[in-house]
This record gives sequence, C-alpha cells and structure tokens, in this order.
Amino acid sequence: MAICLQSPLKPISLSPQSTHSAVFKSKPFICNLSLSSPNTQLANEPDPVFTSVRTFAPATIANLGPGFDFLGCAVDGVGDFVSLSVDPSVHPGQIAIANISGAAASAKKLTKNPLFNCAGIAAIAAMKLLGIRSVGLSLSLEKGLPLGSGLGSSAASAAAAAVAVNEIFGRKLSASELVQAGLESEAKVSGYHADNIAPAILGGFVLIRNYEPLDLMELKFPVEKELFFVLVSPDFEAPTKKMRAALPEEIGMPHHVWNCSQAGALVAAVLMGDLEGLGKALSSDLIVEPRRAPLIPGMEGVKKAAIEAGAFGCTISGAGPTAVAVTDGEERGREIGERMVEAFWKEGNLKAVAMVKRLDRVGARVVSSIPG
Ligand code: HSE
Repeated sequence: MAICLQSPLKPISLSPQSTHSAVFKSKPFICNLSLSSPNTQLANEPDPVFTSVRTFAPATIANLGPGFDFLGCAVDGVGDFVSLSVDPSVHPGQIAIANISGAAASAKKLTKNPLFNCAGIAAIAAMKLLGIRSVGLSLSLEKGLPLGSGLGSSAASAAAAAVAVNEIFGRKLSASELVQAGLESEAKVSGYHADNIAPAILGGFVLIRNYEPLDLMELKFPVEKELFFVLVSPDFEAPTKKMRAALPEEIGMPHHVWNCSQAGALVAAVLMGDLEGLGKALSSDLIVEPRRAPLIPGMEGVKKAAIEAGAFGCTISGAGPTAVAVTDGEERGREIGERMVEAFWKEGNLKAVAMVKRLDRVGARVVSSIPG
C-alpha cells in the first residue's frame, strides 16, 4: 500500500483521459486518505487567491452492486459545473446562489437558498473548514445531470462547489476534507453516504473503509485496460430517500456472507482490471437490488437484456432508476445500450436514453480561474 501525498485536484482540461498517465505517474496502487481530525479549522483565515474560478465534477455510479454505501466510481464526460466569484455585495462569510441553469429540466426545481441547495451546503461546509469570515462568495450552478437519476447528481454539484471554494482560497483543504464537506451536503439532501461524493471528488474507483473518521481507499483500475459503462436512464424519478426507505433493516447471515464475498471479488477485479470478474460481481447483489428493482418498472428485464447482449454484468446505478452495465468496447456498449432501452420500453413502458462512458480517473477539477 502506498500513501498518496498528492492532491488529485489539479487544474486540467476537460478531456481527462489524455492526462491519466501524468496524474498517476507514480502509480500508487491504493491511496489511503484517512482524515484523522475532521472539521479541523485552519488557524488563520486564508485570503482569496483568485477572484473567480470555474470547476467541473463528474457523474458517479454508487454501490456497484454489492458495495452499498461503500463503493463507487466516477464516469467520464458528464457532470455539473460551478462558477464561483468573490462578491463584495455578499455579506462576508456567506454565499449567495446567483444562478442555476442546465439542460436537465429538473434543474428548475432546485432552490437558490444555499442552505437547502447541495452546492450551497457543500460550499458553506468548505468555507467553515477554511474559517472564511471576511469574504462573501457568489455561486452559479450549471446542471449537466438530471436529479434523482442514480448518477450522483447532488454529489456532482456538491463536489464542484467544494473544490471551487478550496481553489479560490489557495487549496488549503485535503481531498478527504473536501469529501467531508460534500458529505454534509449529501447527508442533508439524500442520505448519509459517501459512495457518490468520494469518487466525484477523487475520480476512479473509491472504497469507503470508514465514515467516522472518514477513511477512503482509491482503487486503481489499471491504466492500460479499457472499461466502458453502459448507462441507461429511463424517464422515471427514483428519489434516493424513497429508495433507501425500501431497504431491509436487518439481513441474514447467508446474505451477509454472499454480499461480502462478492464485494471482495469486485475490489480484486477492479485492481486486476478483470472485466469479467467485475461484471460478475456487479450483478451479484442479493440485498439491495432485489428490494429496489421491483420499484423501477422494467429493471429486471433490462438486466436480463444487457447480459443477453453480451454485457459482463448489470445492476442499478446508485439508488436508480439508471441501469448500469459493463463491457470492454464502445461499439459493443452501444449495442448493449440499444437492447436495454428496448427492454425498458417493452417491460416497463418507459422511454429511456443510453450513453456509453469511460471511467473518469481524475474527479472534480478546476476548469479555469481568474487570479485576484
Ligand atoms: N449508496 C446510496 C444508495 C447511493 O444506494 O442509497 C445513492 O446514490
């Protein structure tokens, strides 16, 4: 095990695949990011280094089958943007949400009250960790992800906001503290789980080993291996709170043993870049998926269609309703996606859209900044 001393939050372009080899040059196999003293405020309030920054955070797939609340990964090329500026018209130490936009129709449902908005809550948490009392900030959120889709929409907004605050004040917070800030937002908005926010911040596959104190392990999927996610989102909302309420409070020993062994196999498959093993483990959850799948019309048929079309495995992405399948080729991914869309229509009477995406290995990042 190697300790990762380098923050993954580098100002880089939005085509992260080309930067992978640079980011992971030293190739730490596992990066253990333990936060020994959470909520440690900085002794001195930092000054802003930039007057304005723009950040991006990717979509994420939580659970990955048997990893309920402790495994997740980031998806390349889709996510949310945050623009953040120092604003003398905002009360010092506070944040105002100036604008919310985005293609997703559901963006209109979001409140501009920062106390109830995922980006606002995470930004305030990051400001608190930094001890900001003298500077007011103004935030604009651009939603690329629909709400309640199972793609980590709230986490993407929270991650982009926390990273933006940290960047403006000269990157004083560690990656783990940023996850902590985002987790405050997740807890208020959808539930206390870090399997979206951790990969949204760090990129790649992340294992949440412990919550208090937060202990995160980055699982390195080999850079030379190709992995494609087929993400099929039906026209149906599955609020995380409701999908969590459907879960059993207790489980029996046989299911515990089965799911633990499958989660172990999933981690091994990720580290080895074994796509077949990854798919098999992804499909294997006997605790959460069986309770949630019946709440998503057509999901059982969609999973069957994905496997019949050659996917290595398929499950619900996060709390749903998006279905995720894994494969090793983009073209094959598109074919699998078509079969899954058809199955949502035939078996669930739901329209759906498919996309084929790579793993995002970078996580939340700065897109541009204007020095102060
Ligand atoms: N682990 C969480 C759940 C993720 O499944 O409820 C929600 O996106």
